[in-house]
Amino acid sequence: MSVDFDRSRVTLVDHPLVQHKLTIMRDERTGSKQFRELVKELALFEGYEATRDFPLDDAPVTTPICETVGKRIAGRKVAIVPILRAGLGMVDGLLELIPAARVGHVGMYRDEVTHEPHEYYAKLPSDADQRICLVVDPMLATGGSATAAIDYLRGQGVKDIRLLVLVAAPEGIATVLGHDPEVRLYTCAIDERLNDAAYIVPGLGDAGDRIFGTL
Ligand code: PRP
Ligand code: URA
Repeated sequence: MSVDFDRSRVTLVDHPLVQHKLTIMRDERTGSKQFRELVKELALFEGYEATRDFPLDDAPVTTPICETVGKRIAGRKVAIVPILRAGLGMVDGLLELIPAARVGHVGMYRDEVTHEPHEYYAKLPSDADQRICLVVDPMLATGGSATAAIDYLRGQGVKDIRLLVLVAAPEGIATVLGHDPEVRLYTCAIDERLNDAAYIVPGLGDAGDRIFGTL
């Protein structure tokens, strides 16, 4: 069964290096240390795409050779918002790109039986409503956790929300985009489907457990 969604709101970050690294992550033999490193690296690749539209100002600069006019980011303020736990693995990669970003947290776990999200923690920068919020979580499965996180951010007045995941199921993409008319999605892969336990197929298993070694 094919699942429809608005592809114009989805950016597939499928650079050859991304695809190569993602295959190593999918491999069940890859241990936590390497898995964590790869989550961080892929977050960095996605960060480039998710910030591609940031406006620039002219910036005069004197090189060792002459005076010229370069470019500087025109003051867009950013918050990185990981969905706990697994989203934490993506924060450092994005902070390398955007060191001045603030970091908010939304704690969410998925009930193993119902697959419904449960929020257990939330803390945002006080001016989150003035910031572009990059919501990060490696996995978008049913879309329940991401939708709940987005609803929370909208409730706090956040206008510009960009959801960065590494692996997405078509069902989760359709749910998130159908629920929120503005959010944009960045993903390194769109997988086949969900299984009966609402895990992504082929996926990479439980991202949080693989990042933190709690398998
Ligand atoms: C995982 C994952 C997402 C969620 C995706 O988190 O990191 O947050 O499941 O599933 P969904 O799209 O169906 O909501 P999990 O609840 O396992 O918590 P964890 O990050 O603490 O491992
Ligand atoms: N959460 C994960 O970590 N992996 C899945 O495949 C689905 C939800």
